[in-house]
Amino acid sequence: MSQYKTKVLGTGMCVPERVVTNVDLEKTIETNDQWIYERTGIRERRICKTIGGEFPSDLAYSATLQALEAANMQPNDIDMILFASVTPDMKLPNTASILQTKLGIENQCACLDIAAACSGFVYGTNMAHAMIQTGMAKTVLVVGSEMLSQEIDWTDRRICILFGDGCGVALYGRSEDNSAILATCLGADGTGKEFFQQPVGGAVTPLTKEHILNREHFMQMKGTEMFKVATRTLAKNAKKVIADAGMSLSDVDWVIPHQANYRIIETTAKLLGIPMDQVVVNIDKYGNTSAATVPMAFHEAVADGRIKRGQIVLFDAFGAGLTHGATLLRY
Ligand SMILES: CC(C)(COP(=O)(O)OP(=O)(O)OC[C@H]1O[C@@H](n2cnc3c(N)ncnc32)[C@H](O)[C@@H]1OP(=O)(O)O)[C@@H](O)C(=O)NCCC(=O)NCCS
Repeated sequence: MSQYKTKVLGTGMCVPERVVTNVDLEKTIETNDQWIYERTGIRERRICKTIGGEFPSDLAYSATLQALEAANMQPNDIDMILFASVTPDMKLPNTASILQTKLGIENQCACLDIAAACSGFVYGTNMAHAMIQTGMAKTVLVVGSEMLSQEIDWTDRRICILFGDGCGVALYGRSEDNSAILATCLGADGTGKEFFQQPVGGAVTPLTKEHILNREHFMQMKGTEMFKVATRTLAKNAKKVIADAGMSLSDVDWVIPHQANYRIIETTAKLLGIPMDQVVVNIDKYGNTSAATVPMAFHEAVADGRIKRGQIVLFDAFGAGLTHGATLLRY
């Protein structure tokens, strides 16, 4: 079997223009900026327009053009699209194939959506690596793009303050230099499904008028339970991939954690003994954008020059499912 190395060729991101601050939310629900900021680290989030086209595939289109430009490649160079999202454009067809058409790709590349919630981008990255490593694909686009604003009850202060919309992408390909994905891990614990779920609207409980009137069709979360499992799992997976790569925590230059809550990120960093100035945090600007948080934070840190070629970068994510995963790479 072929054994190619996998490299990040380019990154991109796109967020909607509309900014909703904590102070804006004070006008519609009983909350305040101080409560939200102290408990979560969030100051504001971006929200998609529902009229005029700012849907997950649109955000992904703009972000992908940036990644292609950074990689000096054309859309037809992509031979697989993995689109991680819990808020796809529609049920059928998958959003990866919608994006393929928007990009004008004519090579009939494989298109797959990944439903792994906040771990979706890391799932996509590790799957892209497997495809590239074995020679089954040469250039894989991995997208994390979400429009969570549609699935949130904006009258429920326990949940609406946490989430936002956005998209981040990474283009992966064969490496002929030092850059490489060094270790990966993926997992899930299905027994924790009731900690974060959206049971209404699927095959088991089809959506009815009553569900909508009773506001039962939105995402439901047990915040405290999620908080506890998240920190434990993030720290465990980080240690696993570092050990699997034959490295130690001091070898890691940058941690890109899922941005669910600043306190989760800080607690995980403490458990790992990694200083916060090596952890990329942008939750203050965007809130939790599920599958998009890791690629957005990664892109921002690459674009502003914090992350440099040759440095060791750790992706670490956790989400509904309860899915989780990590990637260690030399950028
Ligand atoms: C949601 C979260 C911020 C709640 O923080 P917390 O410190 O646990 O707060 P609690 O839920 O215990 O609520 C404390 C009080 O604040 C109130 N409160 C809840 N939301 C509020 C808001 N937006 N504004 C003001 N008060 C609020 C609660 O009603 C409660 O009041 P009570 O004591 O009178 O009942 C926190 O649990 C969290 O971030 N969890 C992780 C969730 C997550 O990110 N999941 C996704 C992972 S992929």
